[in-house]
Amino acid sequence: MLSLITILAWAGALAARVTALNPIVVHEQEFSDSVTNDRFVIIGIDYQPGGQGAYGTGSGDPLSNGTTCLRDAALMQQLGVNTIRCYNVDPSLDHNECVSIFDSVGIYMLIDVNAPVPGLSIDRSNPSSSYTTSYLQHIFTVVEAFKSYPNTLGFFAGNEIINDVATGQANPPYIRAVQRDLKNYIAAHAPRTIPVGYSAADVRSVLQDTWAYLQCNDGNGSNDTSRSDFFGLNSYSWCGNQSSFTISGYNVLVETFSNTTIPVFLSEYGCNDPTPRAFDEVIALYGSQMTTLSGGLVYQYTQDTADYGLVQTYSNGTAQILGDYDTLMSQYKKIDVSLLASSNSTATSLQPPQCNANLISNDGFSTDFNIPSPPSGVDQLIKSGVPNAPTGSIVSVTRTSVQAAVYATNGGRVSGLAIQAVSTANSPGQTQSGLSTGAASSATASSSAGTSGTSGSGSGSASSTGAAASAKASSGAYKVGAGFAGAAVAIGAGALAL
Ligand SMILES: *[C@@H]1O[C@H](CO)[C@@H](O)[C@H](O)[C@H]1NC(C)=O
Ligand SMILES: *[C@@H]1O[C@H](CO)[C@@H](O)[C@H](O)[C@H]1NC(C)=O
Ligand SMILES: *[C@@H]1O[C@H](CO)[C@@H](O)[C@H](O)[C@H]1NC(C)=O
Ligand SMILES: *[C@@H]1O[C@H](CO)[C@@H](O)[C@H](O)[C@H]1NC(C)=O
Ligand SMILES: *[C@@H]1O[C@H](CO)[C@@H](O)[C@H](O)[C@H]1NC(C)=O
Ligand SMILES: *[C@@H]1O[C@H](CO)[C@@H](O)[C@H](O)[C@H]1NC(C)=O
Ligand SMILES: *[C@@H]1O[C@H](CO)[C@@H](O)[C@H](O)[C@H]1NC(C)=O
Repeated sequence: MLSLITILAWAGALAARVTALNPIVVHEQEFSDSVTNDRFVIIGIDYQPGGQGAYGTGSGDPLSNGTTCLRDAALMQQLGVNTIRCYNVDPSLDHNECVSIFDSVGIYMLIDVNAPVPGLSIDRSNPSSSYTTSYLQHIFTVVEAFKSYPNTLGFFAGNEIINDVATGQANPPYIRAVQRDLKNYIAAHAPRTIPVGYSAADVRSVLQDTWAYLQCNDGNGSNDTSRSDFFGLNSYSWCGNQSSFTISGYNVLVETFSNTTIPVFLSEYGCNDPTPRAFDEVIALYGSQMTTLSGGLVYQYTQDTADYGLVQTYSNGTAQILGDYDTLMSQYKKIDVSLLASSNSTATSLQPPQCNANLISNDGFSTDFNIPSPPSGVDQLIKSGVPNAPTGSIVSVTRTSVQAAVYATNGGRVSGLAIQAVSTANSPGQTQSGLSTGAASSATASSSAGTSGTSGSGSGSASSTGAAASAKASSGAYKVGAGFAGAAVAIGAGALAL
């Protein structure tokens, strides 16, 4: 007979397991869930709330203020996001609460190991002098900070280091060197393999060479730790509602990467000329023509002077949802999530080509596969580990209700915003509105099925808020059918309730 203590211990273990996401692994062209083996396609947002050059305490680090992370995770969960990219983490800070919040809502993290501080990235104008022991110690410390979180999807070893043929000459071997060092460090000190890759500028003249250089295998029969495990592309080529699969050149991307042996995705997208954005590229990116790619990340969550934001945030914690958030949500809700989960056995059995100069087409782009040796002391550092490095771990999430004031696009204050714990990757429509208390209380519960259906497929304009809220209040069935639109609209409805 089981004692009560045993049962309670089981319950505790179960609770802990339920809140941790399954790590993601790479299977040649695809990411997949390491437990279910479902394909994992990134539905992501770039997250740098402190701004591009920010670093360190205050608002400089995106994952160290639990109050703002809770607010943003709640809004991202509603949106349907499953991944964030963070460019400027400070490994000396405590990320446990924020990372645990994102983990609990089904959101993975892509972490850039570099920092916008001199000496903490490879200088494209002088890679050899910036490839130093102190630089490597810094990026290994970032690995230490994030290696134990189950929702760390991968590390970016570099971002847009190559941006033309000239910078494609000296830099490629250094990018591979940094990847090798990170992967060797992870192999020696992390509890699991964590993918390491690169984020490329969308300079079409060097794009194919960059990918070909980084994905090839130089191992001569064994695994080569200097190759990329994935390839991100920062691409803003789809602009406005007059663009298309061919006008944007997305068709060329599909052709270029058709035989890729590592996952390729858009590490930034979302051209903002013209504004407001229509986000029609979402339909193409997650559609049947682009299954070669593993999704992408919209640039970006937080509004700043460059005008790419989905949400305007203030230092007092208040957030104003912007129109692009609503538009993106309505596009995300059209994604066929079941299509994304299915793996392609041909794509996952492709083998990387052996590195060779004939893979490179531009005169002037590096064909040098002699990867620089680590600077002195680094082999020992990899063997013994960074001394006294702070290592993160998942903690239980105790706060779930967002206290900060959040305003909908119609100006009303959102009520009842909260995160909801899940055990699998978030996806559009997966989570019902966390605002339902406010929304339901405003509903008349008399709405017909016809009205609900209309609002479910509508754009979420203010005039449909009542109907959507009613749908949620009056019919369990409609919660599934109207799902995502219901969440979008309920933000407005919640606002109207006050
Ligand atoms: C691979 O290894 C074999 C056996 O050691 C050697 O003969 C061959 O030259 C190597 N190939 C390359 C490309 O290094
Ligand atoms: C390379 O790594 C893959 C995946 O970990 C493994 O399946 C394969 O056997 C390895 N190949 C060699 C030659 O070690
Ligand atoms: C397309 O975008 C233009 C300019 O951004 C806008 O005026 C127009 O209403 C949009 N058309 C559609 C069908 O969304
Ligand atoms: C992809 O690989 C196939 C078979 O090796 C080859 O015929 C085809 O040309 C390749 N496509 C590209 C775009 O490289
Ligand atoms: C927070 O700051 C914004 C911008 O200055 C202001 O509009 C808002 O009223 C403030 N909110 C609170 C709760 O003080
Ligand atoms: C966290 O962010 C909130 C809202 O922006 C702010 O009021 C608070 O001071 C921040 N906390 C820390 C420790 O920086
Ligand atoms: C599966 O992958 C192969 C190789 O990339 C590709 O040629 C084929 O079109 C893919 N099939 C589907 C259904 O996407």
